[in-house]
Amino acid sequence: MSKVIFSIRRFNPEKDSKPYYKDYEMNVPEGATVLDCLNLIKWTKDGTLTHRMSCRSAICGSCAVKVNGHPKLACKTQAAEEIINGRMKIEPLGNAKVLKDLVVDLEPFFSKFQKVKPWLVTEAAGSQQSAVNVKETRQSPEDFHRIDAASTCIMCASCVSDCNSWASNEKFFGPAVLAKAQRFVDDSRDKATLERVINLSEANGIWDCTHCGECVERCPAEVKPMDRIVSLRTTAIKMGIVNNNGARHVEGFVDSIRSSGRLNENIIPVKSMGIFNIPGLLSLIPVGIRMFLKGKNPPIIHKHIDEMDDVKRIFKRLKK
Ligand code: FES
Repeated sequence: MSKVIFSIRRFNPEKDSKPYYKDYEMNVPEGATVLDCLNLIKWTKDGTLTHRMSCRSAICGSCAVKVNGHPKLACKTQAAEEIINGRMKIEPLGNAKVLKDLVVDLEPFFSKFQKVKPWLVTEAAGSQQSAVNVKETRQSPEDFHRIDAASTCIMCASCVSDCNSWASNEKFFGPAVLAKAQRFVDDSRDKATLERVINLSEANGIWDCTHCGECVERCPAEVKPMDRIVSLRTTAIKMGIVNNNGARHVEGFVDSIRSSGRLNENIIPVKSMGIFNIPGLLSLIPVGIRMFLKGKNPPIIHKHIDEMDDVKRIFKRLKK
């Protein structure tokens, strides 16, 4: 057993005007998880501490909290591995309103799942036939493999806690919801693929991810949400759903590298917005002026790239 100081962020909206940290010193039993420690603190030191748990088996997703600054499933995390200089900091998940202590309001998170219809749309479901009379719809192991990773999501919201896009835009669907969407877009039994991909290509969907990769780092399962989002983007472009800023940005990016070997950041915003989108182009002017005043505007004429032949060869290979 080792003595550890747990610094836990506390907040009771009925009593406290703002959150504060409270320290609890405790011996950590060998093999204890972070959740075991939270329970011990609650049961033996301070019954007012409030946290969530249910399965204690990394299945229900309810025990996710921030441990030393990043989200973890408390029941899956060995306490011994999180002790830094005899201390451990535990806080509620980020990007969510704190209801009490370590409990956050997950309503905004769960309500977004409805936007991507997280259920199979089959012919039978679309017909007058009752769902209970429908035979099972089978798929091959290969088809299942395409949705296997997304299927492992336990909706713990760890990915959302560290999502930079969510932090700057609360309307962004978020990594877990988009991973769930990929699970149905790529399901060989689903009949609503086009409708789903059109919906996901709208604002706040697949193109609003900044691919920072935090969700992949923080996911306690094998979902790799950013990879699922990339897969959805690929599907959208293959299906020709490209009349949006995100898809145009990708195409402009590729064109720029293919033609000059460099990213021409003067042209990309114009291509992303669409050259006939006058209101959109006008909206870029204030940004351009601010960049110019701060000396951040990219050069008008780019330097020549010596290895342009290599770039062309790479593109040829990619095309193959
Ligand atoms: S208690 Fe269910 S995932 Fe931790």
